[in-house]
Amino acid sequence: MIKTTPFFVCLLFVLCGKQVDSKTSVHIVYLGERQHEDPQLVTDSHHDMLARVVGSKKVASKLMVYSYKHGFSGFAAKLTESQAQRLAEHPGVIRLIPNSIHKLQTTRSWDYLDHSYHTPNILLDKSNKGDGVIIGVIDTGIWPESMAFNDEGIGPVPSRWKGGCESGEQFNATAHCNRKVIGARWFVDGLLAEYGQPLNISANKEYLSPRDAHGHGTHTSSTAAGSYVRNISYKGLGLGTVRGGAPSARLAIYKVCWFVLGGQCTSADILKAFDEAIHDGVDVLSLSIGSGIPLFSDVDERDGIATGSFHAVAKGITVVCAAANDGPSSQTVQNTAPWILTVGASTMDRAFPTPVTLGNNKTILGEAMYAGKEIGFTGLIYPESKGLDPTSAGVCQELSLNRSLVAGKVVLCFTSVARRTAISNATSVVRAAGGVGLIVAKNPSDDLAPCSNDFPCVEVDYEVGTQILFYIRSTRSPVVKLSPSKTQVGKLVSAKVAHFSSRGPSSIAPAILKPDIAAPGVNILAATSPLAPLADGGFVMFSGTSMATPHVSGIVALLKALHPDWSPATIKSALVTTALRNDDYGFPIFAEGSSRKLADPFDFGGGIVNPNGAADPGLVYDMGVADYVHYLCAMGYTNTSISQLTGQSMACPSIQPSILDVNLPSITIPSLRNSTTLTRTVTNVGPVNSTYIAVIEPPVGTIMSVRPNVLAFDAQTKTITFTVTVFSTHQINAGYHFGSLTWTNGVHTVRSPISVRIQFVESYADGN
Ligand SMILES: *[C@@H]1O[C@H](CO)[C@@H](O)[C@H](O)[C@H]1NC(C)=O
Ligand SMILES: *[C@@H]1O[C@H](CO)[C@@H](O)[C@H](O)[C@H]1NC(C)=O
Ligand SMILES: *[C@@H]1O[C@H](CO)[C@@H](O)[C@H](O)[C@H]1NC(C)=O
Ligand SMILES: *[C@@H]1O[C@H](CO)[C@@H](O)[C@H](O)[C@H]1NC(C)=O
Ligand SMILES: *[C@@H]1O[C@H](CO)[C@@H](O)[C@H](O)[C@H]1NC(C)=O
Ligand SMILES: *[C@@H]1O[C@H](CO)[C@@H](O)[C@H](O)[C@H]1NC(C)=O
Ligand SMILES: *[C@@H]1O[C@H](CO)[C@@H](O)[C@H](O)[C@H]1NC(C)=O
Ligand SMILES: *[C@@H]1O[C@H](CO)[C@@H](O)[C@H](O)[C@H]1NC(C)=O
Ligand SMILES: *[C@@H]1O[C@H](CO)[C@@H](O)[C@H](O)[C@H]1NC(C)=O
Repeated sequence: MIKTTPFFVCLLFVLCGKQVDSKTSVHIVYLGERQHEDPQLVTDSHHDMLARVVGSKKVASKLMVYSYKHGFSGFAAKLTESQAQRLAEHPGVIRLIPNSIHKLQTTRSWDYLDHSYHTPNILLDKSNKGDGVIIGVIDTGIWPESMAFNDEGIGPVPSRWKGGCESGEQFNATAHCNRKVIGARWFVDGLLAEYGQPLNISANKEYLSPRDAHGHGTHTSSTAAGSYVRNISYKGLGLGTVRGGAPSARLAIYKVCWFVLGGQCTSADILKAFDEAIHDGVDVLSLSIGSGIPLFSDVDERDGIATGSFHAVAKGITVVCAAANDGPSSQTVQNTAPWILTVGASTMDRAFPTPVTLGNNKTILGEAMYAGKEIGFTGLIYPESKGLDPTSAGVCQELSLNRSLVAGKVVLCFTSVARRTAISNATSVVRAAGGVGLIVAKNPSDDLAPCSNDFPCVEVDYEVGTQILFYIRSTRSPVVKLSPSKTQVGKLVSAKVAHFSSRGPSSIAPAILKPDIAAPGVNILAATSPLAPLADGGFVMFSGTSMATPHVSGIVALLKALHPDWSPATIKSALVTTALRNDDYGFPIFAEGSSRKLADPFDFGGGIVNPNGAADPGLVYDMGVADYVHYLCAMGYTNTSISQLTGQSMACPSIQPSILDVNLPSITIPSLRNSTTLTRTVTNVGPVNSTYIAVIEPPVGTIMSVRPNVLAFDAQTKTITFTVTVFSTHQINAGYHFGSLTWTNGVHTVRSPISVRIQFVESYADGN
């Protein structure tokens, strides 16, 4: 992520005149757990502490950006470097860190269509559509007039709700909050303090209120919990009913990301949103935001999300975050703390088959999003390029066309460049030369999303492209007919992990499998701000792990409604151990990337989210704060930094615990030598009397054993601990290989993905 150089503003003449280093920037002063129950006392103590450094309480209150007083204690303030230094030396201050910038996780928009969002009805009905559950969305705000937020048929605001709805620019709390959108607030002080005040709102079409100019937050909110909206299509395609994952859940909107600078958000604002959301009483928090690589450590508040989510999860709130869009390279996954539920994106292939009929009457299906009229048989040309093999780079990109040859015709070109600009360039060239259509042959794993819907631009793979080319070369006057795209409804055709979805292993802790799960995140049709580019009737298609995240947030809301006592770790375990690794026809799911391969746990964690399975997982791998502390100790964080994060005095055992023993619903061994043994504990959440047996599928190059390999649960025995021993059968360094451990009682299958890398590290000392 690129951090734009902030420009600093001097608000206080007193300070500006006196200080040599008059530039201020926002610092977060983190104080760990609260010292007082009363939030006012907490805030007072913050002002006292700041006043001691800046001279007076009056000045302090002007410099104070936020006081964090509910979920944890700390504050954000505008400080000069020398003030920051003095504050850092204050005995009460645990850590003082600069504000940092986060980004939204949408890369592409409009592509093909997926409106047929598949939350199957069993969970939806059993959970009463998530009624009463409150999903907090930390994003760019909301467009409240969208039909997706109508509260028809929705009951009263839950009485436990303590949050608020705040009026602001173009946002009237009385008129715009309702029984669906029960809270709406905005947090901009961290951004303003960094980037200057007043923000040039008019230039950026932004509102100082919960109103969403960008469209991203409206999209994610409506995907998580939008109400039913019937008869919606995107430019004529994919007509149907649009709804969120939990259509009766309530939404609490925390706007922290701003259209300025392309939709950025600061950690000071994000931490404030967490602080308030924990206080307000949300059940789920959905964040389609990431910090970029390199990652901050789990105990570094610059991350904002790791720290805020720790406090939320400790209070039973599930925090769902985007894995980021830096795939398909490995080690690009973000939001990797084990208490976070990290979501990758999957795609639905060929949702818009588009018939291409050649003059020999052969019809081939390409992919497009063309909603215009059929183009009857017309000339088809391939601009032969000098000496270039059709599948080599450059043909689409270097297209230059002679108008007299192209007018009224369809053009075929080949590309090996996986960039949208290459294709949009070719489209403009063909249109400018009077052409009527474009057929692009491309690597099947590239996700190009090339054309606008009013110009036929059909994608085919190299194999089909070559067939078309041979047809052109076989005849004196080749012709083609292009038909409008069809919408394939209700049929899941071979989902894949999306090209852009960030991949594991985690660059902080490779033993903690990330992402946890994948969900649809390509061509997601949902509500948006009418100001957003490409919006059609207040709806738009976006792609990104940003879009996958609220799918899971909605499903988590349904699970919470059905099982109010489930912890965040139980919910995660239920999702991971029941996720799908095969499509509807039993074929394994692939991952897009530089080469197409079967998806592995670093692509999609347990697999693609399976809501009905997660409702009844049988066994779960539960965790609580003690388990997260075990993780932090295993990571080697100091007693002090762990105590600061948790807010309680914590001491790690003198012998560092093994990270392999963190009670995850997955097993990842990044560096296996001869053998290793690890433990897990399962809790029965299915029928009281149940007996499970272990089914092991060891990764290549390993032998695995599980002890005991039969688990008998009854009214007394609810949890059982078992050990897994993994031996390497080869003493050579290898990449990761994958397998699984599945507990089954004949009804439930509780599957943990296993990833093992055999690594015999040579000691440099040995050579001496
Ligand atoms: C806000 O909306 C309410 C209800 O529609 C209306 O009575 C009130 O006048 C509005 N306030 C403003 C400032 O527009
Ligand atoms: C705000 O942006 C507009 C449009 O870009 C520009 O004309 C104006 O000068 C800007 N105002 C300030 C105070 O920067
Ligand atoms: C659906 O919308 C289309 C276009 O907006 C309209 O022509 C049609 O009558 C609508 N159908 C129903 C059932 O409302
Ligand atoms: C293609 O089909 C049409 C109508 O079915 C027919 O008239 C025509 O002769 C066919 N052309 C070829 C090349 O088979
Ligand atoms: C375009 O094609 C026509 C017809 O083949 C030809 O006469 C003309 O010279 C070509 N123009 C260019 C710029 O190549
Ligand atoms: C083609 O793309 C490049 C950037 O990738 C751009 O500079 C150029 O103007 C584009 N050409 C056309 C004709 O769109
Ligand atoms: C944490 O405290 C315990 C108990 O005092 C001690 O044994 C351990 O070494 C400490 N760990 C670190 C990393 O300082
Ligand atoms: C690993 O196995 C090799 C060969 O069996 C043996 O020489 C070595 O001592 C073993 N290492 C450990 C740490 O057990
Ligand atoms: C579980 O098994 C015990 C012993 O066989 C039996 O008494 C009890 O009724 C069973 N409980 C359920 C819920 O089936």
